[in-house]
Amino acid sequence: MKAQNIPDDLKVRATQLREQLNRYGYRYYVLDSPEIPDAEYDRLFQELQALEIAHPELIAPDSPTQRVGGKPLEAFAPVRHQRPMLSIRTETDTGPDGARAFDAQVRRELDLSEDTAPVEYACELKFDGLAINLRYEQGVLTQAATRGDGETGEDVTQNVRTIKTVPLRLQGIAPEVLEVRGEAYMSRPDFERYNAQQRAANLPTLVNPRNGAAGAIRQLDSRQAMKRPLSFFAYGLGETQGWEPPATHSATLDALAALGLPVSAERAVVQGANGLMAFHDAIAVQRDALPFDIDGVVYKVNRLDWQRQLGFRTREPRWAVAHKFPAQEELTVVEAIEVQVGRTGAITPVARLKPVFVGGVTVTNATLHNADEIARKDVRVGDTVIVRRAGDVIPEVVSVVWDRRPANTQSFVMPATCPVCGSHVVRPEGESVARCMGGFYCRAQRKEALRHFASRRAMDIEGLGDKLVKQLVDQELVRGPADLYALDIATLAGLERMGAKSAANLAAALERSKTTTLARFLYALGIREVGEATAMTLAAHFGALEALTAAEEETLQQAPDVGPVVAAAIRAFFQEPHNQQAIARLRAAGVHWPEGAKKPVVISSLAGKTFVLTGALDALTRDQAADRLRVLGAKVSGSVSKKTDYVVAGRDAGSKLEKAQALNVTVLDEAGLLALLEDP
Ligand code: IVH
Repeated sequence: MKAQNIPDDLKVRATQLREQLNRYGYRYYVLDSPEIPDAEYDRLFQELQALEIAHPELIAPDSPTQRVGGKPLEAFAPVRHQRPMLSIRTETDTGPDGARAFDAQVRRELDLSEDTAPVEYACELKFDGLAINLRYEQGVLTQAATRGDGETGEDVTQNVRTIKTVPLRLQGIAPEVLEVRGEAYMSRPDFERYNAQQRAANLPTLVNPRNGAAGAIRQLDSRQAMKRPLSFFAYGLGETQGWEPPATHSATLDALAALGLPVSAERAVVQGANGLMAFHDAIAVQRDALPFDIDGVVYKVNRLDWQRQLGFRTREPRWAVAHKFPAQEELTVVEAIEVQVGRTGAITPVARLKPVFVGGVTVTNATLHNADEIARKDVRVGDTVIVRRAGDVIPEVVSVVWDRRPANTQSFVMPATCPVCGSHVVRPEGESVARCMGGFYCRAQRKEALRHFASRRAMDIEGLGDKLVKQLVDQELVRGPADLYALDIATLAGLERMGAKSAANLAAALERSKTTTLARFLYALGIREVGEATAMTLAAHFGALEALTAAEEETLQQAPDVGPVVAAAIRAFFQEPHNQQAIARLRAAGVHWPEGAKKPVVISSLAGKTFVLTGALDALTRDQAADRLRVLGAKVSGSVSKKTDYVVAGRDAGSKLEKAQALNVTVLDEAGLLALLEDP
């Protein structure tokens, strides 16, 4: 089919979709302020994709569908730069003298006498990625190239197109030719996310974001490049035709931003050496909070006529300098490998390091993530390693320097017992994280376990919030959950921000919570893999706690929805003597529930039915009603739809009741619900 044969309305629609999607994409990726919900964007994107599949002639180079590349390349084609891509001189003195020396040199070379005004500088960040030249012809991205040796780079257009912040078409009136230079980089969140995924899959991780970016750009298959999301910041110009750049560098960057190119907001126009130093110091403070790595700042003489006058020394301009910050990667020695226990029991190996100054602070510990990661990197005590500290992220051991490994080192072995409480350490099959089975008994997990125990859907101890749990644990008033029930009003009233009244209320809430259900109790224990729904199934299936604690994995798996992973977690929990003690003490403290003999799961008429509860009930709370419905096999949902079987409307029911009526869904009042629960 020829392009002419495509109906006009389709052509118009395709153009419209392209323009809309490019604008929404710009708002989303470059400005960080989306104009429409993601779902709407996806819908429009799919519409355009469908149009292009039906009529491939409609595909335009600036279509957002074209960010995903076609076939993998055999090799990158060389690209001869129209204007050489230079590098900048680096001022290695990381202190203020670095800025002073540059300003003094500029003044000397411009022949400015001491009484002339300070030189104006454009200050920017020195992004830690790789330099890219983007070529736009008539406003459309036609080529992207690496720097290479400065004269000739490589054509990496396919991969650069995958960078969401790089516009495929410029906004407004576009020059005939405009080459934009800037840095492709990987943001820290993207880097962390990628590495976390790799770690979970036991695959090699990226050493740092810079390597991640370089690797992505050099992928021959752009679908592989897509897996490592990159970003881009423009910082200068290459060849231009039919475009008169403004008179200063800062105005040039403003113009690029107006054309829709991403330009970092962290930049400033300053006067003289003092201005440079102020910028340097301000950025040094912000550095850790930035979402990407920088290795310093860049100072550029702002006036372009002065830049021309200053010219170049070999391959470096005399009008720009990079002022470095302390490095984010350094070498040091692993003095010990220890394990830390997190608040949920996760065991993390940590390297104790010979103190080293990295990224502006002295680092003595670095995470080794998990056993697989140590094995993959083969980190051993005595090794010299590269340590990376960037942003607020915990410092990390990147890799071992092999030729510095001393003789007689030994592989690390994860301990079999928790270093905090001595309970067993279990690593479930297929998981990367090992955990301490100590639960409440383990000091490291106490707060988190108690917070969960008291939570609304568990024991529902009203008034026992995070702050109180913290005080109770820190003051050693509570070591395990049973200790909660031994607290008297006087002790509670003595805690921070507790009066006599709130102490009495909490004591009453504690007393109330003793009467519970087996399902809630099981959920409250915080057994891994046992959420609310599983706790209910287990309670219904086993009927009595004893039957459950005695069950072997095979028996456990006979319960609905309990597979090998859940069964193993339950078994590991109940086998831990500390957990058995905690349960015995809770029962001795008076925690109880209506206990039945093992009863088969009732095949009720409610099984599989969907309920929505709205309005206030009198005989029981909505949560209690939901619990009882779930035990009978019903589902409880938050919103009314055609699929809803019953809406239970209590007092003051509002829009959900109206919707139920509109959709002809059966509406029950509280009495109707109670009747159903009595005789399901
Ligand atoms: S300007 C003629 N500005 O640093 C000046 N470069 O050696 C050309 N870089 O690999 C470079 N941030 O990719 C400039 N704000 C910035 C920069 C920057 C990072 C990189 C650049 C190049 C190296 C310069």
